[in-house]
Amino acid sequence: MPVTIKSAREIELMTKAGEILALVHKELEKGLRAGMSTWDVDRLGEEVIRSYGCEPSFLNYNGYPASICVSLNHEVVHGIPSKKRIIKEGDIVSLDAGVIYKGYHSDAARTHAVGEVSQEAKDLIRITKESFFEGIKYAKEGNHLFDISRAIGAYAEKFGYGVVRDLCGHGIGMHLHEDPEIPNYQMQRRGMRLKAGMTLAIEPMINIGTWQVDWLDDDWTVVTRDGSLSAHYENTVLITEDEPKLLTVI
Ligand code: MF3
Ligand code: CO
Repeated sequence: MPVTIKSAREIELMTKAGEILALVHKELEKGLRAGMSTWDVDRLGEEVIRSYGCEPSFLNYNGYPASICVSLNHEVVHGIPSKKRIIKEGDIVSLDAGVIYKGYHSDAARTHAVGEVSQEAKDLIRITKESFFEGIKYAKEGNHLFDISRAIGAYAEKFGYGVVRDLCGHGIGMHLHEDPEIPNYQMQRRGMRLKAGMTLAIEPMINIGTWQVDWLDDDWTVVTRDGSLSAHYENTVLITEDEPKLLTVI
């Protein structure tokens, strides 16, 4: 599929989809606490999404059975909510969510600490977020797509972290996943030239240890191969002629 350039009308709808998702993440962060199951987190998220008149974009996407991906500790992404999975003090919890507003998608992820967590967990969460902001310094018309990738990867690797390679960011709009694919590590090619009106979900997934990951038998949950902690930070971003707009941050 060609990469789409969104019209002013489409940007308006995606801006709204992004604002709502930012509010959903705020509610999830407020509600998250030890003793909850990951299923409770999904219930809360879906309820908030629907209260804004949106649809959860992950529900039934390629058969994914929930609205929020809830991934604990060494789980990288796509954890499936379960009543049996109880969140404990000291866990780090990655929450990935998407909403559809009038046919347009937004996608964003955050990793939260529950109660007091280790210093190394705090550092991982912070540096993962910082790597996203290093990347979007290059998210501007005229630059190349993989300038973003290189900046994210180089930043995280400076701290000795493993940058997940099996999963990437992506274009977004009328579909959750559109072209282009956006790796979080250095590519030899420069990638496509960025143009105003592109909407991209940029999402570093960073591990304390190796970059290598495995898929569990549920066919969804991605875990670090060495069992080390992993963090995720994602926003839906609009490319402009000037600074990028973070549609999922308010
Ligand atoms: N943010 C995730 C991604 O871009 C979306 C989760 S996939 C789903 O891969 F199947 F869970 F919806
Ligand atoms: Co995404």
